[in-house]
Amino acid sequence: MKKSFSKVDFLAQVLYEVIERRVSLDVAFKRVCRGRCAGSLEEREKLYLECRRFISDYIKLRCIVKKKKPSYRHLSRVWLIGVDTRLSEPHCRLSVSKWLYDKVVGLLGADETEALFESFEDRVWWLRLNWLKAPEERVLRELETEGIEFEVHPEIPYMVRVFKSPKPLRLLKTVKEFKAIPQDLASALCVEFMGVCPGDVVVDMCAAPGLKTSLIAMLEEDVRILAFDISRKRAEVMKHLLRKIGVPEHRVQLVAADSRRINLASSVDKVLLDAPCSNSGSIDKDPSIKATLTVGKIEFYSKRQLELLLKSAELSEDIVYSTCSLLPEEGEEVVAKAMNIVSLKPVIPPRFRSFCRPGYSPYGISSSVCRLFPHIHNSEGFFIARFEVK
Ligand SMILES: C[S@@+](CC[C@H](N)C(=O)[O-])C[C@H]1O[C@@H](n2cnc3c(N)ncnc32)[C@H](O)[C@@H]1O
Repeated sequence: MKKSFSKVDFLAQVLYEVIERRVSLDVAFKRVCRGRCAGSLEEREKLYLECRRFISDYIKLRCIVKKKKPSYRHLSRVWLIGVDTRLSEPHCRLSVSKWLYDKVVGLLGADETEALFESFEDRVWWLRLNWLKAPEERVLRELETEGIEFEVHPEIPYMVRVFKSPKPLRLLKTVKEFKAIPQDLASALCVEFMGVCPGDVVVDMCAAPGLKTSLIAMLEEDVRILAFDISRKRAEVMKHLLRKIGVPEHRVQLVAADSRRINLASSVDKVLLDAPCSNSGSIDKDPSIKATLTVGKIEFYSKRQLELLLKSAELSEDIVYSTCSLLPEEGEEVVAKAMNIVSLKPVIPPRFRSFCRPGYSPYGISSSVCRLFPHIHNSEGFFIARFEVK
């Protein structure tokens, strides 16, 4: 960091971006770093990790600094002096807003809620071996040569959990060459749930930036994918990413459009609805979510998810619906509401029955849907359901 810009100012500025501009930690860090972060890559990485801890401690800091609207500089100064970890209120200790803590305790109980939020502090890293670029064995050897300590998932052999890396994964040669792609285990499971077969025509309703689309293309060569995303910018990013990952252009037809309004001439074999959500299951990736999640946001996404699920049921008799959310409003409740309107039968593919945790217990469909949690599955928090439309 340049000498004229103090650590207090830097952290305060990142927090300002997160709270006032509602951007993710990564975007906030990049914005504040621009023109100010001098020094080596290692120094930059150290600063990033410090920002990550600071943002993660935001609610904890608000518990300590009792003022109604403390300045961001004041919060960063207090944090740099050292925050007291002996806070008595559990939501303060875990640095989660009280409403979210109480909600999750109602679903999982106090002990498991503690384990869940503590597990978000250590990010678990997964890499997907990309057969489209190089054979699996060769990529594994290259990862070893780069000094990575890893373990191959016993049931999903193209997924590799990374325990130790000499540098951030994005800077590995194997990753820069797209032979291995950072992608969470839960994200791969959504695609595995689809059970894509040769000859299938698949609609990916919310496709950008295209990680799941590209996995579908990797797992089954003879499949045609119609991919939609409402964001033109994200669709553009996806187009470039698919090329770099090695997905042949003719296999994916990518359209920037609102999937709630699409009409197809005939139904398709499978639909993947990886819906936009609050991202509460991805707090390990972006701790700013703990500081900015609101009930209003959850209501907004829940409504959008229901609309997209009902549209999916018009397009195919075989749907996978997923969200990276911990909350039933973006999972079980959406399914229950959709089932009141259309005839859906949730089914867990037999291969994953023992792997999944059932949905939350108050909901009738809980034994037929899948929840993944970081403290159990070493993945992001996810809700996944597959339906037969009857
Ligand atoms: C969770 S992300 C999808 C991630 C993607 N499936 C992947 O694996 O890379 C949700 C996406 O839904 C898109 N989206 C939101 N509302 C939409 C809508 N009505 N129609 C189509 N896409 C939508 C967002 O732009 C965002 O890119």
